[in-house]
Amino acid sequence: MDQNKTTSYIPALGYDFLTAYYDLAIKLTMPEKKFRRILIEEINPQDDESILEFGFGTGQNLIMVKNQNQSIKLTGLDIDPKVKDIANYKLDKNKHSVPLDLYDGNMFPYPDHHFDKIYSCLVFHQLDADSKANSLKEIYRILKPGGELIIADWGKAENKIMRLAFGIVQMLDGFKTTNDNVNGKMPEYIASVGFENVKITQSLNTAIGTFSYFKAQKKFSDL
Ligand SMILES: C[S@@+](CC[C@H](N)C(=O)[O-])C[C@H]1O[C@@H](n2cnc3c(N)ncnc32)[C@H](O)[C@@H]1O
Repeated sequence: MDQNKTTSYIPALGYDFLTAYYDLAIKLTMPEKKFRRILIEEINPQDDESILEFGFGTGQNLIMVKNQNQSIKLTGLDIDPKVKDIANYKLDKNKHSVPLDLYDGNMFPYPDHHFDKIYSCLVFHQLDADSKANSLKEIYRILKPGGELIIADWGKAENKIMRLAFGIVQMLDGFKTTNDNVNGKMPEYIASVGFENVKITQSLNTAIGTFSYFKAQKKFSDL
């Protein structure tokens, strides 16, 4: 991978001009309250933990995680400057202060063994195979030994109707980045960078596909 060039990326809703409508689109197409509430339960933020959201988008999860536990040290990382402005506006409105970082899609701007937990929601289906692998490698590097990864994203379609319904997401985000998700490859990607205890904790069948929660842990011995 070229370390000096910003990696090309898929904006929140597939096309740059649609980013302003992202929150509305999620509200209309997904059981938003339910899938975000489950995500917060899976993250289970504890006092004083340092937690990163990879691909914070318009900041909806950041607000909910902070509402759940004010004492955590929360940080957001994304690649798109446009979402940073939207997320900052919403965080201000909710009286939360969360440092939001941008990067170029290569090395994450944090030292080794830095975070207790890293979570990500609806991001990995927008990454091609190289970016999935590189992002997971970086997440592994910056997690503390024993630290937890929580990913909420499109997973293996649970039946033919779910496979068909996922066509809507694939039309917006393309097939190249989404096929491995719907074919159930996420656990393989996660395990391939060294994570252990890789599991799917639950899945939801939605109007546009099967949405799954993946969890994994960095080895305690990886210092
Ligand atoms: C569909 S949005 C999800 C936003 C938010 N996490 C949520 O739950 O609503 C995907 C986000 O991933 C970001 N993204 C895409 N490629 C990325 C990359 N290589 N590194 C970091 N963020 C990326 C996009 O900019 C966008 O904000």
